[in-house]
Amino acid sequence: MEKVVRFGVSLEPELLKKFDKLIKRRGYASRSEAIRDMIRSEALKQALENELEEVIGTLTIVYEHDATGVTNKLLRLQHLHYPNISSTTHVHLDKYNCLEVLLIEGKVKEVQSIADSIISVKGVKHGKLTLTKKLL
Ligand code: NI
Repeated sequence: MEKVVRFGVSLEPELLKKFDKLIKRRGYASRSEAIRDMIRSEALKQALENELEEVIGTLTIVYEHDATGVTNKLLRLQHLHYPNISSTTHVHLDKYNCLEVLLIEGKVKEVQSIADSIISVKGVKHGKLTLTKKLL
């Protein structure tokens, strides 16, 4: 870790009580660690507003592998978007349903557009994209 700087924060006692309750519930070991994470989270939120920001997305999809052509379409899209997509994890949920987690790298707008093209494939029942990036 880089050298740290200490600074004071003034809060109303009621607000501090609320904060301490919140961080205890989340399992933070200290107020400092909780504040660091909150700052990172806000910085990430702001960074993601820039569609040219380089990010990593995890796209989770659920689909029925027997639905017409879905497996082929998904594979074709993944290879079409190489090198943005280079890795996936596949889980067989039951006899018919599959869950797949795809890692998609690139600019915010690229990653979102690739994710949209995958989620909208007929036979994909659900899809959720989460974006993140390297943070200080
Ligand atoms: Ni499967």
